[in-house]
Amino acid sequence: MTGPLSGRHVVLGISGSIAAYKAAEVASRLVQAEATVDVAMTRSATEFIAPLTFRALTGREPYTDIFRDGAEGEAHVELARRADLMVIAPASATTIARLAHGLAEDFVSLTALAVAAPVLVAPAMDSQMWAHAATQANVALLRQRGVQFLGPAEGRLASGRIGAGRLLEPEAIVALVRARLGREHGDLAGRTVVVTAGGTREAIDPVRYVSNRSSGKQGYALAEAARDRGADVILITTASLPPPGGVRVIAVESAAEMLEEVRHAVVAADVLVMAAAVADYRPADAATIKIKRADMGGSLTIPLVENPDISKEVTGNFVKVVFAAETNDLIDNAMRKIVAKGAQLIVANDVSATDAGFAVDDNRVSILDAEGGQDDLPLMSKYDVSARILDRVVSLLRR
Ligand code: PMT
Repeated sequence: MTGPLSGRHVVLGISGSIAAYKAAEVASRLVQAEATVDVAMTRSATEFIAPLTFRALTGREPYTDIFRDGAEGEAHVELARRADLMVIAPASATTIARLAHGLAEDFVSLTALAVAAPVLVAPAMDSQMWAHAATQANVALLRQRGVQFLGPAEGRLASGRIGAGRLLEPEAIVALVRARLGREHGDLAGRTVVVTAGGTREAIDPVRYVSNRSSGKQGYALAEAARDRGADVILITTASLPPPGGVRVIAVESAAEMLEEVRHAVVAADVLVMAAAVADYRPADAATIKIKRADMGGSLTIPLVENPDISKEVTGNFVKVVFAAETNDLIDNAMRKIVAKGAQLIVANDVSATDAGFAVDDNRVSILDAEGGQDDLPLMSKYDVSARILDRVVSLLRR
């Protein structure tokens, strides 16, 4: 599988801020996602972190001196021409001011003036400077021109103060870069994709519940992959994993709550992917106070009643993808479920495997369609499984 950003060219602009060292992780994550990364640095950025770091991380010579680098003198135009996106992280107050007033004094502001691709700016400065009218005026001006701001975050600043001005974490910056490139070029751009993830929790009493081994990883990977292809993603989840950036997250616990949220979310959706492990049963009567061991006389019987089948009950004008978690007769069970649930695709996985299914990072699935087609995939990352599922979804959407 190719990386989510393979074939994409990103210019990473770095200005002078104590947070400049975090740009190394931004560069590294972009390269890991297989983007081609060109780094442009202001002179003051080179005071905070050495250009050599970025040459090592990207395998390409960083641009730091407009009078030296790119001897042909048109390096910034060349940089700008081939960029699919420019992200400036960290962006100091000075660089934001240069951008707002079109001052082309260094490779960052020069390239930002020459680039036609989207420009994303991740500010980093003390909270006083961020709040200052001059900075806020520059930010407003740039927003009007379509510049997308990433953060800043609230938190502890170099000055020791707590406030807004902290650079967004590198993982969040890269997630938003991937989301924006997806919206510009992805085959799910303009589409709304609803994904469910995790195992539902069915209350026994305020302390105890019935659940299953689903971690949510497969659903989160689907949300990430759909985001990377430009979709507006709504992730309805019981899991407490760190949510993928650029995705709307709705937290639920029980099957009943999940049903409610799925019903709302699918109204404007193009796709519903039910990766969640929804409990088929719940305790008939959830106790309102903690059941006392002493009161039970040595054994506790908990009558269970059926939960609604969300993927069956929720219908509408969207592509419905369901999963089948089986321990035996994988394909037969899956074929029955795709019909029973009125789905266009079903993703069958053997959850008794130790190297696939619940909680691990990889999965081994067969994608079945309503026409009897079957695509048996080898063990691969849950992200790559998601990409293969979404390939099928895209072709269904095109029909
Ligand atoms: O979350 P991970 O740890 O990454 O593990 C991934 C996974 C194994 C949970 C995932 O790949 C998976 O198989 N998810 C579906 C689990 C499940 O509930 O399968 P099922 O065969 O019991 O249900 C079939 C389908 O109906 C599923 O899409 C399920 O979401 C849906 N369902 C089930 C019961 C119910 N009451 N309502 C439903 O909508």
